Amino acid sequence: MIKKVHVRTIGCQMNVYDAERMKDILRLLEYEDTEKPDDADLVIFNTCYIREKASAKLFSEIGKLTPYKNAKKAKGQRMVIAVAGCVAQALGDEIKSRVPFVDIVLGTQAYHRFSNALEVVLKQNSQVVDTEFPPESKFDFLPENKTNAVSAFLAVQEGCDKFCHYCVVPYTRGAEYSRPIESIMKEADILLQQGVKEITLLGQNVSAYHGIGKDGKTNSLSGLIHKIADIKELTRLRIMTSHPMDITEELIDCFANVPKLMPFFHLPVQHGSDKILKAMNRKHDADYYKRLIERIRKKRPDIAMSSDFIAGFPGETDKDFEDMLSLVKEIGFAQAFSFKYSSRPGTPAADMPNQIPEEIKEERLYRLQDLLRSQQLAFNRNMIGKKTKILFDDNGKHGDKIFGRTPYMQPAFIELTGNIRENLLGQEREVVINEAVLNNVKGKLV
Ligand code: SAH
Ligand code: SF4
Ligand code: F3S
Repeated sequence: MIKKVHVRTIGCQMNVYDAERMKDILRLLEYEDTEKPDDADLVIFNTCYIREKASAKLFSEIGKLTPYKNAKKAKGQRMVIAVAGCVAQALGDEIKSRVPFVDIVLGTQAYHRFSNALEVVLKQNSQVVDTEFPPESKFDFLPENKTNAVSAFLAVQEGCDKFCHYCVVPYTRGAEYSRPIESIMKEADILLQQGVKEITLLGQNVSAYHGIGKDGKTNSLSGLIHKIADIKELTRLRIMTSHPMDITEELIDCFANVPKLMPFFHLPVQHGSDKILKAMNRKHDADYYKRLIERIRKKRPDIAMSSDFIAGFPGETDKDFEDMLSLVKEIGFAQAFSFKYSSRPGTPAADMPNQIPEEIKEERLYRLQDLLRSQQLAFNRNMIGKKTKILFDDNGKHGDKIFGRTPYMQPAFIELTGNIRENLLGQEREVVINEAVLNNVKGKLV
């Protein structure tokens, strides 16, 4: 009998990738995906621990499944509930004791053992908590990556050794690990054979990639980019996300010399005040970041820069905050994510004095986002009248329009005439942009 699995994923692209890989495992166990949890045989919460808001909701969300779980039980069936991802890794046993009807808690480096966990739950009727960082790499045990997408993620690096003072990732994802080149190339081939045209190489800190090649030599991210870009079937390549201290000249050169590597660079800076950057343990100052962007723009003038910012870090004064706004003004971002500082258990910043009151954090975030939005709009508007290429990656219902992305990552809606929609999916075509708003651009095929 075909069983049903409902997966809820929040958090970063790595979590999205993990969700797909869990589905690959479950497909072999004859589970098919379902949009609704109501009648699912298995519900997976693939969680994020980065800020309090994301993790706090988990317990109430699980609670909402109680009626469905009971209804299934009344029919003599069972709904297995699993918590995976970063909250599972961070809280482990606490989840089991707070919500006894959670059957499986599976950490970020242990989800290749999903089948074993399910077997224990279904056959022995006991709970499983597996939050080990096992000696083996999960990537060696995952089945083939199945997809029908045009654009796919490929995890090449995981974990982080940077220990920024606000961040839980080094604890939830573990130490920095790079997959060997061969294993990555094999996965890239499998994706491309299934029709994927764009690959995003993922890592919590992808710029620190240092994977072993067939010849036993270590490859940097730039080496990996060259190897993947050489695959004929690939149209576009992207990387996500990087740390300023790991950006080499060879990587910058890739943006200039590897045509398939798209001119969009997500390079989180977090702040613009040297004092706060130091307190954050970022290991660089504002000037270093500004000079780095200068070097990148010298080699690839049209590059779209993206970043992450945290407002209201402990000790942030009005002056520090103004320094952040000045950095944003000086650089000009095509897009950015910005967050209120959220105190995370176990991180050094949680115990720092001078925590910023909520109202001030909110006010500062609002001002920061206002500035970032105006830059994003300006960047989008700057495309009006220009020719660019769109990779069409979504055949969804957009009326007479088809969706794709510009090289700069902007969502784009392109007007269609006649019945050419089918042919365009997966193709990269030239368009002219004639309209731009904050969140997307619109255009026509040329
Ligand atoms: N590995 C990536 C992203 C880490 S998490 C990187 O270093 O770039 C994504 C973003 O969440 C971070 O860049 C940071 O801006 C934000 N973030 C992390 N911890 C946070 C916290 N405690 N409060 C608010 N934002 C946080
Ligand atoms: Fe977190 Fe810093 Fe590592 Fe990014 S570089 S994952 S912000 S510790
Ligand atoms: Fe969240 Fe874990 Fe990603 S904490 S941001 S899902 S690495």
